[in-house]
Amino acid sequence: MSPTQPVSGFSKLSKKQKINWLVETYLDNDPNATKILTQYWNDDSEIQRLHDEFSENTISNFYMPFGIAPNFLIDGKLYALPMTVEESSVVAAASKAAKFWLTRGGFKTEILGTEKLGHVHFMFQGSTQDLEKLFASTLHDQLLADTAQITHNMRQRGGGITHIQLKDKTQTIPHYYQLEATFETVDSMGANFINSCLEQFAKTLQAQVQESEIITTDHKDSLQIVMCILSNYTPNCMVRASVSCPVEDLAEEGVEAAEFVEKFQRAVLIAQEEPYRATTHNKGIMNGIDAVVIATGNDFRAVEACAHTHASRDGQYRSLTQCEVRDGNFHFWLDLPIAVGTVGGLTSLHPIVKLALNLLGNPNATQLMGIIAVGGLAQNFAALRSLVTSGIQKGHMKMHLFNILNQLGANDIEKDYFLIYFKDKTVSHHAVVEEFNRLRKQKTN
Ligand code: MEV
Repeated sequence: MSPTQPVSGFSKLSKKQKINWLVETYLDNDPNATKILTQYWNDDSEIQRLHDEFSENTISNFYMPFGIAPNFLIDGKLYALPMTVEESSVVAAASKAAKFWLTRGGFKTEILGTEKLGHVHFMFQGSTQDLEKLFASTLHDQLLADTAQITHNMRQRGGGITHIQLKDKTQTIPHYYQLEATFETVDSMGANFINSCLEQFAKTLQAQVQESEIITTDHKDSLQIVMCILSNYTPNCMVRASVSCPVEDLAEEGVEAAEFVEKFQRAVLIAQEEPYRATTHNKGIMNGIDAVVIATGNDFRAVEACAHTHASRDGQYRSLTQCEVRDGNFHFWLDLPIAVGTVGGLTSLHPIVKLALNLLGNPNATQLMGIIAVGGLAQNFAALRSLVTSGIQKGHMKMHLFNILNQLGANDIEKDYFLIYFKDKTVSHHAVVEEFNRLRKQKTN
């Protein structure tokens, strides 16, 4: 069913009115639809209001599992990683990798940079030299002076604007220039701070071009601000997460260390050279990254966008992780540009996010960068380890088994039976349904 008229003033309707309109207009007046939407409301009206206000036109809550992957030894400290993810095998895989590295030195992290950046994109038809002269003589300092109020608190916390440059981009698009600024935003992700500074830069630029004697009168009005916005690509806000151990320590029951390392290295090499594999390889890394990013209230779309730009920085999409054997030691690492915060945004509002940060010992932004990167590296290690040995489906389908059984309405006794039944068989949707039907039929006879 689809309406013949668009709705107007939807955002002004109450939550109940919104649901009524939706159910009437799109859902055939199905009373079950209203029930589903309202049964996810929180009983505590304060908590519900908080969630309603995170976004516009909220009509219900969307649950995601909040899981824990324990035993992560990171820089000598034991963590239980909070992970928000719906894919059934992700937390199990992370936990397995954590346990594996627990006895092999754990994970190490290193911050390679914390710089964020943003741009005023603008067009100018006058001379590039005049613009450069204006920038060097007065504009640069005026940009800093006019943003002094906005940057005051950030400077007190040790951050602020670290560099501003004028970039001539006329080789790519005629008359196109940028003011590119870099920022230190300490423990905040800094999007609002950066965008506010950039919007002030645009005003200052406009005023200076109008007032300056360097810019010729006939070109003053040719200045057009296109947009002011931070970049989610932050190549100098980078963290490294790594693991290493002597090759022989990788031996496990039934797996010979040297053979495992050879296969593992080849898998990483394939992901370096082959974009089809790199995409899936990096998807697995993002399984771990996003889960911790979401659980800690950060913007996973920004983190995703940045990671994929980084993965294609030399013109080809490649693996985010790297691997090598040096002097008999296995080294596996992930370099990831990642911009996250531990203050501001959801971090101080969402009760579960606050709890998740508390669980991690209330890390600062750089510590959180490291923890998130470890989540990604662990996930990739677990995936590659399965892929090059037993295959992914064994572990994956065991987890999937529970999803299928839940869909079929299996009770706990039946679930226990199926765990044993599939111990030495391959799980498939068809096989589960067939055995389930046989079992139920047997019961009724
Ligand atoms: C599944 O969500 C992720 C994997 O496909 C990652 C990989 O293939 O490396 C298992």
